[in-house]
Amino acid sequence: MKKVITYGTYDLLHEGHIHLLERAKKLGDYLIVGVTSDDFDRRRGKINVRQPLIERIEAVKNTGLADEIIIEEYEGQKIDDIRNYNVDIFAIGSDWTNKFDYLNEYCTVVYLPRTEGISSTQLRSKEGGIQLGFISEDAFVNKVIRETAYVNSIQVSGFYGDPSVLEADLKDKIQIFEDKQDLIDQSNALYIYEQPKQQVKSVAQALESKRHVLAEAPLCLSVETAHDLFNKAEENHVQLVLGLRTPYCTAYNRLLLMVKSGVIGKPVQIQSVCTSMKDYESICEGKIEHVWSSASGWAPTALLPILQIFGPEYVSSSIVVKKLASSSSRPFDLFTNIHLTYPDGVADCTVGVGYRGDNSLTIIGDRGYIFVPSPWWKTDYFEIRYEDSNENKRYYYQLDGEGIRNELVEFKRIVNGDITIQRVSKDVVFTMTSLLEKIKEGNYVTIQ
Ligand code: CTP
Repeated sequence: MKKVITYGTYDLLHEGHIHLLERAKKLGDYLIVGVTSDDFDRRRGKINVRQPLIERIEAVKNTGLADEIIIEEYEGQKIDDIRNYNVDIFAIGSDWTNKFDYLNEYCTVVYLPRTEGISSTQLRSKEGGIQLGFISEDAFVNKVIRETAYVNSIQVSGFYGDPSVLEADLKDKIQIFEDKQDLIDQSNALYIYEQPKQQVKSVAQALESKRHVLAEAPLCLSVETAHDLFNKAEENHVQLVLGLRTPYCTAYNRLLLMVKSGVIGKPVQIQSVCTSMKDYESICEGKIEHVWSSASGWAPTALLPILQIFGPEYVSSSIVVKKLASSSSRPFDLFTNIHLTYPDGVADCTVGVGYRGDNSLTIIGDRGYIFVPSPWWKTDYFEIRYEDSNENKRYYYQLDGEGIRNELVEFKRIVNGDITIQRVSKDVVFTMTSLLEKIKEGNYVTIQ
């Protein structure tokens, strides 16, 4: 019996796939189809796949062409499969010509002409396109705009804000609006990252115009305002999503699941450190109201694992702040420690600009601890460490584009209604905001 094997993602199964499977089947007597796992696709940069593995397998099964379906989970698996299943022929579309010549050592490699004019990418870009407008005064926006190139069906509708922050090539490519409402009207969703007071106004304006919003954290510095903004989103039937990268890192999500499933036992303490050696005095040039302070800039990230593991409901908090020397009259913090006590644990969130800590995350449990090295918020690696170091485990998950592209893919899915639960819950946003509000109101102990 001649065995043939072929591989693919088979997202939104189309006639190109069916045509390929038919021809592959005819090459032998028995066809094995390898369908890529969700994880494997993400690891190799295919982040736009619409259907989960189970649906893609079902679609391949329903063609009636596969005698056996297997899951492709890792780089190099094809060699293992060819050996394990005694495969005679490896068949794949001509878009891969020469790429799999190395398999000739194990079986016959056949490249079948690709069907013209159709692909999963094409089908994905037809449905639920987003015209995303950018409102910003921060150079970080360049990264976000560039990352849209990796996300199917997000088009950049334009930019409003301080054009001097845009990199030269983007300035030439993107339409720059003089009027914010004009950009909002030309978009069906907005990415907003502005200075503290301005950001709230723009988010409200976009929501009132019935546009979806991805607003960089912190959303605002008042719990009441945060409630108002989420209510506005609900009344206008649009989505308001907090802009943060860490929640979209695969490694961070695996870590959360592992903690919840008890790998380190019962967590008792979480320590997260986010610091950078920026010189704030010169960045803000005396206009401190124009920039986010260390706590407002960093704490949403630093608090995230604490509020997602221990929950948003802490018992008591104590905050220690070191203020910018020239801002003695204003609550502008350079270094902040937020200590939260829970019924069964404690947490410390340490943030600072012009200070440098180890930027790690540690979660202590009664069986072992998790250690995420610097910079922990760009999570791609973590270790689970036990008393007996022979039991230690290390985990690595590729992170491309600092998590921005994953964040954009998820935002698009939320906007399209494919996902209804946001990674960062409203309750977590409200608790983050309430802690930042305490700092704004001066509810802290000062150190010199
Ligand atoms: N294929 C084909 N003709 C097409 C599309 C795909 O012959 N028009 C073949 C590919 O060459 C591959 C198999 O179908 O052997 C599975 O391809 P897959 O990557 O899942 O589909 P694409 O449509 O190419 O997906 P994408 O656009 O996401 O790359």
